[in-house]
Amino acid sequence: MTNIALITGANKGIGYEIARLLAGQGVTTIVGARDEERGRAAAERLGQPYVRLDVTDEESVAAAAKWIDGEYGRLDILVNNAGIAGDTAAHLPTAATAGQLREVYETNVFGVVTVTNAMLPLLRRSPAGRIVNMSSELGSLAMAADPDSPFADVNLLAYNSSKSALNMVTVSYAKELKDTPIKVNAANPGYCATDLNQHQGFRTAEQGAAIAVRLATLDESGPSGAFLEDAGPVRW
Ligand SMILES: NC(=O)c1ccc[n+]([C@@H]2O[C@H](COP(=O)([O-])OP(=O)(O)OC[C@H]3O[C@@H](n4cnc5c(N)ncnc54)[C@H](OP(=O)(O)O)[C@@H]3O)[C@@H](O)[C@H]2O)c1
Repeated sequence: MTNIALITGANKGIGYEIARLLAGQGVTTIVGARDEERGRAAAERLGQPYVRLDVTDEESVAAAAKWIDGEYGRLDILVNNAGIAGDTAAHLPTAATAGQLREVYETNVFGVVTVTNAMLPLLRRSPAGRIVNMSSELGSLAMAADPDSPFADVNLLAYNSSKSALNMVTVSYAKELKDTPIKVNAANPGYCATDLNQHQGFRTAEQGAAIAVRLATLDESGPSGAFLEDAGPVRW
């Protein structure tokens, strides 16, 4: 049985690499992207299907779920990868506005809930559904509160708190779904050179994709409700 995966924000960056690596394992990997031209171009490069999907637009998410249902009848893997950094120039709490937070949360938090709930009926039809939420070490409260952490000074209110919220979203879904075959985990890709950070990261997008691919293809003995990177668990 071929696995069916959906990756949100798969037209570039880490999402594209996740799609490429999963497709390389024989998984039918649906490239989810909000921009039709960019999405189709990426899907064509990968030889994989494309679906239009803007995670902040409930109608587009519902239409994508309907299309996947019609084409494949189920989903085995969902990677909630789409994410934005927001206005990083005004990132400190005293300079931020509620509107800036709302914009980041719309994509990084609310979008994940919208997509997950729309796709869950399809994931429930899989014998081994896997949900991976692309989080960040910047969402770790333990690391943010630790002055010795390498990221202690990276104080991006909207982005960091959105990933903290996403971590709780991950744990919350894992708890509700604990008696099902579905596993829900958060992935930390590390600091990767992508458009999100003007290519300042020191890891490649492919390196960042590896942990998501691992969590997307966990066997039955794997964890659920965990926050993991290549080296193992990340502090919450
Ligand atoms: N890069 C890092 O160092 C790093 C570290 C930790 C976590 N992460 C996380 O990893 C994920 C991927 O980031 P990246 O570095 O690969 O960033 P990226 O290169 O900027 O890619 C982000 C992707 O998300 C898509 N996207 C944004 N808003 C969307 C929406 N409303 N609906 C659908 N797609 C949307 C973008 O589409 P468009 O092309 O249309 O804008 C793009 O495909 C994010 O969740 C990010 O927070 C990244």
